[in-house]
Amino acid sequence: MSKVLIIGAGGVGGVVAHKAAMEKQHFSDVMLASRTLSKVEAIAAEVEQMHGRKLRTAQVDADNVPQLAKLLKDYKPQVVINVALPYQDLHIMDACLEAGVDYLDTANYEPPDVAKFEYKWQWAYQDRFKSAGRMALLGSGFDPGVTNVFCAYVQKHLLDEVHYVDIVDCNAGSHGKAFATNFNPEINIREITARGRYWENGDWKETDPLSVSRIFDYPGVGEKKSFLLYHEELESLAKNLKGLKRIRFWMTFGDAYLKHLEVLGNVGMTRIDEVEFEGQKIVPIKFLRALLPDPASLAKGYSGKTSIGCLCEGIKNGEKKRYFIYNICDHAETYKEVRAQAISYTTGVPAVTGAVMMVTGKWKGTGVFNMEQLDPDPFLQDVAKRGLPWHVEER
Ligand SMILES: NC(=O)c1ccc[n+]([C@@H]2O[C@H](COP(=O)([O-])OP(=O)(O)OC[C@H]3O[C@@H](n4cnc5c(N)ncnc54)[C@H](OP(=O)(O)O)[C@@H]3O)[C@@H](O)[C@H]2O)c1
Repeated sequence: MSKVLIIGAGGVGGVVAHKAAMEKQHFSDVMLASRTLSKVEAIAAEVEQMHGRKLRTAQVDADNVPQLAKLLKDYKPQVVINVALPYQDLHIMDACLEAGVDYLDTANYEPPDVAKFEYKWQWAYQDRFKSAGRMALLGSGFDPGVTNVFCAYVQKHLLDEVHYVDIVDCNAGSHGKAFATNFNPEINIREITARGRYWENGDWKETDPLSVSRIFDYPGVGEKKSFLLYHEELESLAKNLKGLKRIRFWMTFGDAYLKHLEVLGNVGMTRIDEVEFEGQKIVPIKFLRALLPDPASLAKGYSGKTSIGCLCEGIKNGEKKRYFIYNICDHAETYKEVRAQAISYTTGVPAVTGAVMMVTGKWKGTGVFNMEQLDPDPFLQDVAKRGLPWHVEER
């Protein structure tokens, strides 16, 4: 029985709070902390009303390391679940080291002024976490997260060598808004407008943003046009999957979404540098974020499904084999259960599952870990029970 501190009260933070509250056998006490106390209190009230469990609440600026370290030393959780923004990752890792607490997140660090996400900044904490005897689990969402564990499962049980991986991510849901993003708009738009990148035979290959597409047949959804993107799990999987020859990531976008994005880009609204406006400096993408719907607010009335999985090809007993391992999640079902849409849900459930792996000792170690470096079996058993069942098909 352990205490857990959740940082971030957005769409994903709401799911983590609900699901952690439902885990009485693993978490003796749950605290939700974020920058804006009113959002924390709204989630805590909903959790109490739906699950009859009272959460502790706190206001914290996670970029203020001494303030966060004090909260950790006072509350003494066993693990922090960081579902604030990627900009906070290093500060929260610093505070965890200072207070002697394990760390988990769902997205890798990005410097605010460059749209570039790489593991190098967090991998550089390896020695510090090791010598402090603490564990940091990186990318415990769906993608990264469950997709990394799917690959580890295929490597452990289905193929002797995994040669080709295509991670395919489809949201075929409809929220009824002209334009909205399913998770933090700033992080989402930075990811999608970046140059595409994939790994082949030891090298990274670049493509223009959204310039390469193909049709995938997604279980539960059907055929959808999918675009090649760079996604952070490619970096760790290219390092950790043995015998790999190529790994790529694909995501679906509707025509209306792409048209809005193109226009916003053309007029400069997706810029991440400061511009002068009426005597003030503003960052256009941050201003855009303030105008767009909050991801959590999309949940009510969202219909349709997400379908996300890994298509893995390789060799088993000298024979070529191909497997598709995936999950389908329904927006309306997740709303019924925890008042969230499926993108927040498919991120929050693996975050709680990763934390359960850590507090139960099913996953243990000292240092910094990516998900595929740990045993896939207990995680996949648990994540299915917690709301994300998965399936394997030979193709
Ligand atoms: N791996 C995956 O599959 C996956 C998928 C989707 C999302 N994600 C990640 O999940 C995270 C959360 O996404 P989301 O959609 O929930 O975002 P969101 O709705 O924008 O919520 C972010 C929350 O973090 C809080 N926050 C920001 N800066 C903070 C600071 N300095 N100190 C304390 N709290 C701070 C925000 O507070 P305010 O309310 O004050 O702004 C907000 O409550 C992001 O890192 C995203 O990249 C991962």
